[in-house]
Amino acid sequence: MLDLPLDRFCGFLVSEGIRRFWLVWDGEAVRASHPSLEPLARFLQEDRRDFDQHEGVFVQVAPETGVLQAAFVHRTCRGQGAGGVRFWRYSNVEDFLRDGLRLAKGMTLKNALAGLWWGGGKGVMAQGTGIAEDRRQIYEEYGDFITSIQGCYVTAEDVGTSVEDMAAVFSRTRFTTCIPPVLGGSGNPSVPTARGVVRGMEAALAHLGRGTLAGKTVAVQGLGHVGEPLVGFLREKGVARILGSDIDPARRLPGVEVRIVERGDNSILFEPADIVAPCATGGTLSPATIPHIQAPIVCGAANNQLEDPERDDVLLQERGILYLPDFLVNRMGIVNCADEQYGFVDPDPRVEAHLGSQKGDEWENSVYNLSLSVLDEARRTGRTPARVALDLAERRSRELHPVWGHRGAEIIRSLVRNGWAG
Ligand code: NAI
Repeated sequence: MLDLPLDRFCGFLVSEGIRRFWLVWDGEAVRASHPSLEPLARFLQEDRRDFDQHEGVFVQVAPETGVLQAAFVHRTCRGQGAGGVRFWRYSNVEDFLRDGLRLAKGMTLKNALAGLWWGGGKGVMAQGTGIAEDRRQIYEEYGDFITSIQGCYVTAEDVGTSVEDMAAVFSRTRFTTCIPPVLGGSGNPSVPTARGVVRGMEAALAHLGRGTLAGKTVAVQGLGHVGEPLVGFLREKGVARILGSDIDPARRLPGVEVRIVERGDNSILFEPADIVAPCATGGTLSPATIPHIQAPIVCGAANNQLEDPERDDVLLQERGILYLPDFLVNRMGIVNCADEQYGFVDPDPRVEAHLGSQKGDEWENSVYNLSLSVLDEARRTGRTPARVALDLAERRSRELHPVWGHRGAEIIRSLVRNGWAG
């Protein structure tokens, strides 16, 4: 079943009369809503890398468009699972599940490290399933789906999804953020994300005693929503040379030496730059790429940059490359949107505190200060920065929300009890 292409998997579900299903961790084992989906429960149960006791995975074949839509809820101790919805092409069931699991887990870590009272979750929709002609309808159906899971997951924008799409989601559910500013939301989170990545780069340079960004060379992989403003901020900081790559020929930017590449071409990471910034897709740091990296610092926005977090983290350290973990430096997207129901102040001191850009950088948990303290502890203890950040994030992610406790888990139990999957 794990090898099935997703259109065939949808066909299988429909032939079994399954429109929705869940896979839920009950504290001892993963349970499936339907006996025919036991292989999926077993796969999660036996997985050592990505599953990590997810509280719940909810999946539907959308009733009208037939698109495969899912919500992955990793850990909700600090609050409802929060993270964006990705609309992407996946080769098979395992690929689809793994991406959702990894991304949701990453959100748990990111939200906890940022000090947000949110748990970790992620939405995933599979391109190439169903009828993709009416984009608005796909996102409206996703909104209905999110309403149906009663707030254990609150969605947001991610790769493949736009702010306009979020308006369609919002027309069907209150459990979303990143809605357009005209509807009272925070809009596109990418510009703040780019600002946070710049602060991470500055911390890495300071840690290595290499001064500021002025005069440096930076190579950026992916010139999309985050990569483009990142380039602008780097220029403002006096970066001397910016190299970029993208698979989309339309992404040429003035002042950037852009290379248009084939999907899967990671050669931009091998440039002799001061910093390389992966800002495209995940899994680009692996045994295939790490030996060729020449830059002393890797710091970018892409989620899940390490193909295998345990293995590749160590490989980078062995090569003397300073890697700033993605979930430490790309927090600003979720910081910008997660609490949007509390209203806005312009400029917002709550957001600016993370960037340390108003009155110096006084908050110990800002991107810059936390990056510095993680790097210092890594140097002191010989552990990798990602290990140090991971341990801290794990600890924080198990703290209970001061008002709502572990309510996400209660919601999941009630969905199971009340026959959500039919
Ligand atoms: P995007 O889809 O707007 O941009 C990604 C760009 O990378 C696209 O232009 C795409 O053509 C390009 N690309 C894809 N494969 C490539 C390759 N092999 N080589 C070079 N370019 C390639 O996505 P966005 O929003 O800029 O996000 C970038 C990364 O940052 C993603 O991994 C996302 O999950 C992560 N991220 C984004 C946040 C945000 O606020 N947008 C927040 C936190 C993380």
